[in-house]
Amino acid sequence: MVTIAVTAEGPDEPRVAVSPETVKKLLALGAKVRVQSGAGLRSRFSDDTLKAQGAEIAASAAEALAGADILLKVRRPSSDEVKQLKPGAFVAALLDPFDKAALEPLAGTGASLFSMEFVPRISRAQSMDVLSSQANLAGYKAVVDAASLFGQALPMMMTAAGTVPAAKTFIMGVGVAGLQAIATARRLGAVVSATDVRPATKEQVQSLGAKFVAVEDEEFKQAQTAAGYAKPMSPEYQAKQAELVANHIKAQDIVITTALIPGRPAPRLITRAMVESMKPGSVIVDLAAERGGNCEATVPGQTVEVGGVKIVGPLNLAGTVPVNASSLYAKNLYAFLELFFDKKDKSFKVNWDDEIIKGTLVAKDGRIVHPNLVPQSAA
Ligand code: NAI
Repeated sequence: MVTIAVTAEGPDEPRVAVSPETVKKLLALGAKVRVQSGAGLRSRFSDDTLKAQGAEIAASAAEALAGADILLKVRRPSSDEVKQLKPGAFVAALLDPFDKAALEPLAGTGASLFSMEFVPRISRAQSMDVLSSQANLAGYKAVVDAASLFGQALPMMMTAAGTVPAAKTFIMGVGVAGLQAIATARRLGAVVSATDVRPATKEQVQSLGAKFVAVEDEEFKQAQTAAGYAKPMSPEYQAKQAELVANHIKAQDIVITTALIPGRPAPRLITRAMVESMKPGSVIVDLAAERGGNCEATVPGQTVEVGGVKIVGPLNLAGTVPVNASSLYAKNLYAFLELFFDKKDKSFKVNWDDEIIKGTLVAKDGRIVHPNLVPQSAA
């Protein structure tokens, strides 16, 4: 029988890779689930609730890991943790695979490493898409946090004592997080506009009742890759975009930035001068802080003030709604692990040619193997 281990995350990571619901489902696949005591506490999954669904509770990380076949984590585990598993065990986590210096020693353990960031965006893999499940929550929370920092109300209110104007909210980058940010800001009654470089986003923005603001030139028409992501834009495009943003941003009360390009630093969309042009009391929440930030004034992990404008650089916004984030993340992992089990005889079988398995496998037998991380010929 395959043993799945789940250990506690570090102090900065409140999420956990298993939930009571997935314990039950993993058991039904034919696996045994061993969870380190207390690992789920920050997501309000007590040892007792996990145990009630059939998990074995291990007193320590070492006890959970000892000889296990599979390790599920939120963040990249240490090589030391992985070495305690069965030789050649499987690890599935957000491995941050472009951080080569950290990935190499982990690959050296000989484990098969699956990077959940690389789940391909095909319909069969939608239930495994951790980037979407977490970005959706982050987009929601960014607006809620901005609203609470903004010293004014978001909706227009007509009262006997006078009218409260609606807050103007601008969402930059309309992927999964941006779309949820638009929807949340609209629900709170803000006047919402949004920008992106991918043409497909225009209709999405408008269908959510927001105004689309973008430089729509020939380059814009080609800005989406086959995988659905944005391409890095030319300096000429960036200059035109900066001019447009500079004019628009002056009038905004809340700005949420989410613009990312896979494997690259976040594009710089807001200069310090643009921040200085905004009204004191305005709020910027930079969801790209973890990748350097979309705003020049962002300090990752901190809230800073420039000319009375608050700039928030959260590092793990999904982690601030840990109950939901862990539940969805654990479900994503379960859906991924289902690929490895034969439902009929409950056996563990790996089809190394499966598009999703191949797409997420970053290291095997001591070597980094993913085509995005090594030159094609070496892979
Ligand atoms: P992301 O997190 O990589 O980037 C966020 C947004 O920033 C994107 O919309 C991107 O176009 C935008 N951006 C990048 N550079 C920019 C710039 N210079 N200025 C303005 N905006 C910029 O994107 P995410 O959320 O991962 O979504 C990427 C795509 O994948 C979307 O089309 C989304 O709908 C699609 N998707 C497809 C899924 C599926 O088919 N299973 C699941 C989830 C997302």
